Amino acid sequence: MAISKDVLKVQPSATLAMSSRTNALIAKGIDIINLTVGQPDFATPKSIQDAAIAAIQSGKASFYTPAAGLPALRQAVCDRIAIEDQVQYDPSQVIITTGAKFGLFLLFQVILNEADDVLLPEPFWVSYAEQVHLAGGNAIAVKTTGKDQKVTVADLEAARTPKTQAIVLNSPQNPSGLLYEADELRAIGEWAVAHNILIVADDIYSNLVYNGNQFTSIVSLSDAIRQQTLLVTGVSKTYAMTGWRIGFVLGDAAIIKEMSKVASHATGNPTAASQYAAIAALNGDQSEAKAMRAAFEDRLNTIYPKIQALPGFEINTKPQGAFYLFPNVKAAVVATGYANTEDFVTALLDEAHVAVVAGTAFGQPDHIRISYATSKEALLTACDRLADFMASHQK
Ligand SMILES: Cc1ncc(COP(=O)(O)O)c(C=O)c1O
Repeated sequence: MAISKDVLKVQPSATLAMSSRTNALIAKGIDIINLTVGQPDFATPKSIQDAAIAAIQSGKASFYTPAAGLPALRQAVCDRIAIEDQVQYDPSQVIITTGAKFGLFLLFQVILNEADDVLLPEPFWVSYAEQVHLAGGNAIAVKTTGKDQKVTVADLEAARTPKTQAIVLNSPQNPSGLLYEADELRAIGEWAVAHNILIVADDIYSNLVYNGNQFTSIVSLSDAIRQQTLLVTGVSKTYAMTGWRIGFVLGDAAIIKEMSKVASHATGNPTAASQYAAIAALNGDQSEAKAMRAAFEDRLNTIYPKIQALPGFEINTKPQGAFYLFPNVKAAVVATGYANTEDFVTALLDEAHVAVVAGTAFGQPDHIRISYATSKEALLTACDRLADFMASHQK
């Protein structure tokens, strides 16, 4: 069969692969606690569901929308970003995409030429590297040496080449839950401006920040940095809307126009009913989103000390956002006699019946990613199971 060489090089999503293995065991009736998931476990708030139902029943969701999205939704995105980040965008600088994931995909298609480099500070979300490859670029993993292992200008400078076209910054970060502070972002932003490197700011977890920590978007730091940045975000995580597939990219109007052109030949517009739902989410009362954020905070505060107390599980800094812990488990893998993190994770699934993702896919193979986007009861049971596993398997 003739399959494109570029496509054959793409790795399947490790998180989705682990998730489907887990679901297969659950389907067999095995009581697995699934901590692989990257999505809120809440249903979408009812007022948002109702807006979609009304759009369907009135008939207005029956039709194509502009490829870049409904004008009212592009305006709603501008209005919400103005509230949250104190930055004013014009609707011509916004494209609505089929999830932030497809927004990133389109963006790399538009900004990369053959063999351009994109810097990905470690650890990084699995899809960036594969999307960069699919756009003909090189994904360059950048070793991070700053505070809490965040990327510094020195780390970036060591990785910069004449082919460096963009850097992807994700804060709060999947998988580590770490949040970049304003001064860290400013330094990176100024470096990118000085070298004319585009900043792809993935702010998808911006509303999931805990324990009094403050989110700063890099676009809010100066006009020069904002002009250098493509801001990627969406409704999936804030409003428990992963299944609706609505994301946004904001930035330079010429880039957004090219992305709309490519989208018009690919998906066309994102699903109209989902766009009406997203308008309700962005313009409506934010109290349910805030309640979900508070539930994640409570879960983090419950399981963090328990995960930290597991022998051989090391987390130096308490995560400040998203809904993941990313402990280094090298000592636990050694203590239990497994050859590597993958084998350790497989044993956790098969014997402890707790599913997590090995850090390899995020560029840090000594780590595992634990999602706490599940009920507190399940999280507490998972912690007990992990503790029992460690107690019974240490050599
Ligand atoms: C860091 C990061 N960016 C982007 C996305 C994509 O979100 P969506 O496509 O659901 O909008 C995810 C989802 O897991 C993510 O973790």
